[in-house]
Amino acid sequence: MSGPELLGRGEELAALDGVLAAARAGHSRVLVLRGEAGIGKTALLEHLAGRADGCRIARTAGVEAERELPYAGLQQLCAPFLDRLGPLPAPVEERGAQLLQPGVGQLRPLPAPQRAALGTAFGLAAGDPPDRFLVGLAVLTLLGGIAEERPLLCLVDDAQWLDRVSVQTLAFVARRLLAEPIALVVAVREPDDGSGLAGLPELTLRGLGEAAANALLDSALKGPLDARVRDRIVAETHGNPLALVELPRFWTAAERTDGLVRPDGDALADRLERCFRQQLAPLPSHTRKLLLVAAAEPLGDATLLWRAAGALGLGADPAAAAEATGLIEFGPRIRFRHPLVRSAVYRSAEARDRREVHRVLAEVTDAAVDPDRRAWHRAQATVTPDEAVAAELADSAGRAQARGGLVAAAALLEQAATLTPDPARRARRELAAARDRK
Ligand SMILES: Nc1ncnc2c1ncn2[C@@H]1O[C@H](COP(=O)(O)OP(=O)(O)O)[C@@H](O)[C@H]1O
Ligand SMILES: [Mg+2]
Repeated sequence: MSGPELLGRGEELAALDGVLAAARAGHSRVLVLRGEAGIGKTALLEHLAGRADGCRIARTAGVEAERELPYAGLQQLCAPFLDRLGPLPAPVEERGAQLLQPGVGQLRPLPAPQRAALGTAFGLAAGDPPDRFLVGLAVLTLLGGIAEERPLLCLVDDAQWLDRVSVQTLAFVARRLLAEPIALVVAVREPDDGSGLAGLPELTLRGLGEAAANALLDSALKGPLDARVRDRIVAETHGNPLALVELPRFWTAAERTDGLVRPDGDALADRLERCFRQQLAPLPSHTRKLLLVAAAEPLGDATLLWRAAGALGLGADPAAAAEATGLIEFGPRIRFRHPLVRSAVYRSAEARDRREVHRVLAEVTDAAVDPDRRAWHRAQATVTPDEAVAAELADSAGRAQARGGLVAAAALLEQAATLTPDPARRARRELAAARDRK
């Protein structure tokens, strides 16, 4: 999947090709792509994926709603390879596993402490909070083993939304990659504190140059445009590709001639989000409701989405209408055209509708398979204090703590405290949250 042709990115493409070539030659490379929303980070990652013939690709992407689930991002990256390690983690009697020959199709087993750390980090086994250093080593060993077979390209998108331990572990891994055929390319939105990835080689994406920006604007325009207006637009968008493609779609005839597009001075991401909201407004309520379910469900999990849609009494029709807008694709994974579409859908919905959708998502999420997400949805659906909901969240916090995600645990406990009716218990949860924050 190489996507549409990318305009005006000669230098960036050359840098990315260099990363891939080095990895193919057995010299690992790391590159952090930084830039504002819509500047073209995902497009570059897709382009790279399309050029990686003969390489294996591992991917993960941060999702805003998943930030509080420790190791969620890293687990997504490693998931395709975990079964190659044999059972995780090593039971006690298998302590000597690293001495055994690997089975067919299996990788060299990880040293037992690394296996155990990975097992608890990924919530596959109970245990003490894993040592982050061991988790990092385990991921290094795992990726190294995979890359022995074929060069490995790791693509991490939207790192600003990854949970914190996943970012820390990725940075740890990135700093220790040596003579291995591994390329790790991470995209992160600016402004972001970005501290987790500081010090790694980086490339900051700026807006497209004038020629490329004009060409992109041309491809998006349906009618003629006064040359001075065009110049002004190109200048106002600072060559941001998403803005160039999206903003002109909603101009009135007057705006096309006087170029007074929007009040100046507001952040581009807000303007874009507003622009997506305009596309949502005329849709029928069932279609908007279905989009809201998709926006509220962080995994893009089709099974959950259709279960929830069924429970809400939405038929199959709204799916076609929603897809016809081009704002979303319903495959086995649900994909919005851009993360800003998703936030526009979510934020433009009535609070009442959001609660209803979260309530239904909690109902259709299997408590045995995914208790944490279920607890999270329930909490989003609740306004008045409710001990059952609060207790579920507190349990979730306990699990987050066990995986070694203290900050995540604190966030969950804070929310649990807010929803706790009993004052003494509420105070205890607030205290525990404050302790974990430290
Ligand atoms: N260099 C480019 N030439 C043409 N279109 C581009 C270019 N870069 C990005 N786009 C398009 O602009 C939109 C936003 O890009 P995207 O990669 O999603 O931005 P980001 O990931 O930085 O938020 C997408 O529709 C993408 O296809
Ligand atoms: Mg992106």
